[in-house]
Amino acid sequence: MKQRGKQFKLRIEKLVYGGKGLGRLNGKAVFVPQVAPGDLIVAEETVQKSGYSEAKVVKILERGRSRVKPRCLYFGKCGGCDWQHVRYSDQVEAKRLIVEENLQKIGKIKKPNIDEVIPSPSPWNYRNRAQIKVKAGRVGFFAKNSHFVVDVDRCPLLKEDIEDIFPKLKELLKELPTQPAEFHVYSSSKDEVLLKIVYQGRFKRFDLPLERLREILKVNLVGYGIYRTNREGYPERLDFFGRDFTYEIVDKFKFRVSADSFFQVNRFQVGNLIDRVARVAMEHQYMLAGDFYCGVGTLTIPVGRYVHRAFGVESNFWAVSDALYNKDINGLRNIQFFCRETEEALKIVKDYSPDLVIVDPPRSGLNERIVRTLAALPRIKKIVYVSCNPSTLARDIAAFHQFGVNMERAKVLDMFPQTYHVETIAVLRKVR
Ligand SMILES: C[S@@+](CC[C@H](N)C(=O)[O-])C[C@H]1O[C@@H](n2cnc3c(N)ncnc32)[C@H](O)[C@@H]1O
Repeated sequence: MKQRGKQFKLRIEKLVYGGKGLGRLNGKAVFVPQVAPGDLIVAEETVQKSGYSEAKVVKILERGRSRVKPRCLYFGKCGGCDWQHVRYSDQVEAKRLIVEENLQKIGKIKKPNIDEVIPSPSPWNYRNRAQIKVKAGRVGFFAKNSHFVVDVDRCPLLKEDIEDIFPKLKELLKELPTQPAEFHVYSSSKDEVLLKIVYQGRFKRFDLPLERLREILKVNLVGYGIYRTNREGYPERLDFFGRDFTYEIVDKFKFRVSADSFFQVNRFQVGNLIDRVARVAMEHQYMLAGDFYCGVGTLTIPVGRYVHRAFGVESNFWAVSDALYNKDINGLRNIQFFCRETEEALKIVKDYSPDLVIVDPPRSGLNERIVRTLAALPRIKKIVYVSCNPSTLARDIAAFHQFGVNMERAKVLDMFPQTYHVETIAVLRKVR
């Protein structure tokens, strides 16, 4: 029989990065999943470490004031959401605090200037894409910290046209000769849907007509592709049927987005992100802006309207091809794009010598060499750092500080409601 851990009463102080709540037992930090600030619980210790413990809820004695009823039937089982039980305004405040604490503790900034917090205009139906898992006939998402697929029939985070696609994907499974590992569904602002059917290992080829898939899925499917996961874990395209791209309309901008390009997931917040980054470009007459990790040109193109010249650097071939097309359809002639890794583009950066830099790296952030090179650019005035990971952002901000580039201000933008994930836009200034 499994031994029970130590039980104790615990008051939850706040929510932390990773989604858990933090309480203290005799001063020692205890992390508990699925709690809300202010909750008084009976906790049972599940992991004991020298500096902290982990615990689970046995009983809620008092409910914190931010507790609300989760909207989704699967909340708690499905690993997709962390905070559906927390009032939305409190989720946003928790994210502001997380960013602030990271900037203080890791970024070594005593009083970080967070001058704006931008909640998502809607905390529901905001996601334009999902990676849906398939296992033993179940279609849904992984349970938290597990590879068990929780079977779901709808997801309230997804755009209305795809929120109930799950039972239809199950119908599709019946027509496929081999069960895939994942379905990647993406619905653009034009309600055009792209589907990737992703296999792991061996599978039987098929070529179902696009019309048949459209009939089964009952969405405006414009194309679907067959993919196999490579050794590095990335899906590689084997075949595509129909159109392999769609368009996104964001305010006055139009972007072509290929099935294999990145596009921001929260359709209500892309415009706000573009607007806040573009505003920095308007503050001064910049001669040359460099946008690293530029994707399909989502930020390069709007910024390009306000600067003399701009260039984007991106490693994904599909995204660069979209970006080149997007600069034309948006009528910008002063932008160049380079298809390469940022690390390999550092020589070009030195030669071009931009006075404004935008970076929007993956979760791992930048490395020391990139930070050093950007900070040492002779004409650099400002760096706009867009980040989806507050701890690597804070680490890089501390590194920039060593080279005379300081954080001036930051904005917290909630790109991922109901989860602990958070986007930050930090504006850095060269001081010496
Ligand atoms: C968070 S997305 C940002 C995209 C874009 N700024 C936007 O707002 O849509 C990060 C992008 O970096 C690209 N990327 C990842 N690693 C890279 C690297 N080492 N060098 C250049 N681009 C990279 C990805 O393909 C992706 O398009």
